[in-house]
Amino acid sequence: MKKVITFGTFDVLHIGHINILERARALGDSLVVGISSDQLNFKKKNRLPIYNEADRKKLISSLRFVDSVFLEESLELKREYISKYKADILVMGNDWEGKFDEFNDICQVVYLPRTPSISTTEIIEIVKSK
Ligand code: CTP
Repeated sequence: MKKVITFGTFDVLHIGHINILERARALGDSLVVGISSDQLNFKKKNRLPIYNEADRKKLISSLRFVDSVFLEESLELKREYISKYKADILVMGNDWEGKFDEFNDICQVVYLPRTPSISTTEIIEIVKSK
């Protein structure tokens, strides 16, 4: 039984999110997703997500290839989350290539290619400009 873990904000759900979650799950037997809390997102991006954390959790947990979700409250706790959820594989999009190699001592770290030409930021910009 291989457990996969991944992290992200997953605001304004789009095909890039679905693709990475589907591919992450395919690397193992179960997938747990750490969803950035509203607070954490504010710290990272200096703005609150469009969808609040409860709604983002509900959206992601309703996907058939996601087994469980939790709120990621702090970027500094990645190691603790990986251990707590007994993850064998950490999956990140390749926008993070190399950034999580320090966790190779407790799990396998895999970077998957991003889906081209789509992001939450881009969708927000397009909607704003209409
Ligand atoms: N992701 C992806 N392909 C995309 C966009 C995102 O594979 N086109 C992946 C990211 O690499 C990450 C996960 O989806 O592993 C969650 O990313 P997130 O930052 O929530 O989404 P973005 O669309 O990148 O959001 P933003 O534009 O706000 O950075």
